Amino acid sequence: MSETNHVWRLRKRPIGEISNDVLSFAEEAIPEPNDGEFLIRLNYLSLDPTNRIWMSDMDQYMPPVELDDPMRGLVCGTVLKSRHPDYNEGMIVSGLGSWSDYQLGSPATMSPLGDTGPVAVVDAFSTLALVGPTAYFGLLDVGQPKAGETVVVSAAAGAVGSIVGQIAKIKGCHVVGLAGSDDKCAWINDDLGFDKAINYRTQNITQALVAACPNGIDVYFDNVGGDILDACLKLMNLKGRISTCGLISQYNATEAIGPANYAMILMQRLRVEGFIVLDYAERYPEAIAALSQWMAEGKIKVRTQVIDGLDNALETLKTLYTGENTGKLIIRVEDI
Ligand SMILES: NC(=O)c1ccc[n+]([C@@H]2O[C@H](COP(=O)([O-])OP(=O)(O)OC[C@H]3O[C@@H](n4cnc5c(N)ncnc54)[C@H](OP(=O)(O)O)[C@@H]3O)[C@@H](O)[C@H]2O)c1
Repeated sequence: MSETNHVWRLRKRPIGEISNDVLSFAEEAIPEPNDGEFLIRLNYLSLDPTNRIWMSDMDQYMPPVELDDPMRGLVCGTVLKSRHPDYNEGMIVSGLGSWSDYQLGSPATMSPLGDTGPVAVVDAFSTLALVGPTAYFGLLDVGQPKAGETVVVSAAAGAVGSIVGQIAKIKGCHVVGLAGSDDKCAWINDDLGFDKAINYRTQNITQALVAACPNGIDVYFDNVGGDILDACLKLMNLKGRISTCGLISQYNATEAIGPANYAMILMQRLRVEGFIVLDYAERYPEAIAALSQWMAEGKIKVRTQVIDGLDNALETLKTLYTGENTGKLIIRVEDI
């Protein structure tokens, strides 16, 4: 065990794009667990679009990170010292922690990752801890697609979106994805089996959607909000469903943009439903079992982009909002 801890702390709330001075990175003492707690060594840190939400004080689904507190993150680590009877030294845990080498956990925040079988710990953590269940419940529970229906997903080459599209294909849907580069479009089309990919940066979004969705849209899985949401609203079928998963096009915006085609919700009797994956915590085993099986059968392929070094966390996080990331972003501190 190294003698020093490195901790990222929130110093400023971001306005617009994330700047380097919103977080500080400094050496600190390694904390000691109290009764009921354990100390973990960070192995992997998940970088997620929601990190930008937690940094801000916008209305959100859990309290924002307090100024000067360690930056919150989804973590996977190894128990080094424990003062909890159910958490032994060497156990691998995952859950909500912080951007720091060493940190305290408790059953309220972290749980054992369990046996990942033939799946490497980093892959189990990157796919099954958050983005897989998000895609699974957001599409199947909220979107409720039926075979033959048209499903459109935005940020389709991203961690959540790529899994959404593949589950929709498994369910027999016509699947159209929007992504921000030709390479990403080629991946979802050629490797993942989407029926059509649209480069929303180079194509006219509405025209491309009309061509790709000759029968209209039954389910729109929204990862981005903004212009793409508007274009999809216009093409929604009667009794269509919009699963509102995320609004990444708006996270850095200084002025909120509402959908201009809001009237379509009334005219087409749409159901628009937001969800947070944490609401499904008790049903995670169902999602993990289904996703693990589909992955083992080769029906779901995933991409993980691993970047080494906790010191690179802030620069790497920014790539989520520019589209430079190519898969689920994970910071590796020490492999398991
Ligand atoms: N509700 C929940 O519980 C839950 C849980 C996890 C994630 N989410 C949400 O799901 C969404 C996707 O998250 P993820 O972890 O899978 O990230 P991701 O899709 O792997 O990465 C984010 C992607 O968003 C796209 N993007 C960025 N700015 C954009 C813009 N202005 N317009 C359109 N696309 C833009 C970029 O792809 P392109 O190159 O294609 O532009 C980027 O690669 C996020 O909105 C996130 O907040 C929600």
